[in-house]
Amino acid sequence: MADVLLTVRGITRRFGDRTILSGVDLDVAAGEAVGVVGPNGSGKSTLLRCIVGTDDADDGEAMLAGRVLDERRPEIRRDLAMVMDDIDFFPDLSVVEHLDLVARAHAQPDAEEVVNVVLDEVGLMEVSGQLPSTLSSGQRRRLALASAFVRPRRLLVLDEPEARLDVDGVEWLGRKLLAEKAEGCAVLLVSHDPALVERVCNRVVRLGADAGDD
Ligand SMILES: Nc1ncnc2c1ncn2[C@@H]1O[C@H](COP(=O)(O)OP(=O)(O)OP(=O)(O)O)[C@@H](O)[C@H]1O
Ligand SMILES: [Mg+2]
Repeated sequence: MADVLLTVRGITRRFGDRTILSGVDLDVAAGEAVGVVGPNGSGKSTLLRCIVGTDDADDGEAMLAGRVLDERRPEIRRDLAMVMDDIDFFPDLSVVEHLDLVARAHAQPDAEEVVNVVLDEVGLMEVSGQLPSTLSSGQRRRLALASAFVRPRRLLVLDEPEARLDVDGVEWLGRKLLAEKAEGCAVLLVSHDPALVERVCNRVVRLGADAGDD
């Protein structure tokens, strides 16, 4: 399986005497999307954090293209874009300034062009001069998605990217993720939207009480 980009083996995470994740394995190949589903508290966000390295698993490892995946390492950040559920923005940068900074910091070629295209795609062109604090909650969520889509990436890790999006937004997100796959990006998607998972994902990993392989 030469084109497997993300390899996760035996991720185990305990908090005190509670075992939240117990030996989770998954692979995501280039051009493929894998869904992670399960009830609230089943460990989906914890799994993503352990995978990208913002939380330390008690056991197991995640590799991106053969390298230990840790978003604190620059060579990993070049390949990884993510949208987690705890997003911070620079409070005194406008939407377009924020995206421009993110794109340039991650050495996106043609940053200006990419930012313009993404602003248009996520529907934030009209508010591109506003500060994050003046955006609606759905617009802030769109800015978080845009921040991932202006980065170069081979792997997209998304924690409930559909949250707070309106119906058209979720429809756009589905189309966008299919386009990402078509361009060879690997997608790991946590979602509570069964229709989105069905539309985008090749396979699904279930966590929690009803866990079992799909
Ligand atoms: N730092 C922590 N310390 C103690 N317990 C934690 C910590 N982080 C997560 N947990 C616990 O781990 C469990 C899984 O949390 P997690 O956020 O991964 O769930 P989730 O599947 O993402 O849920 P949701 O669908 O609500 O987003 C929860 O019971 C949570 O309380
Ligand atoms: Mg979560």
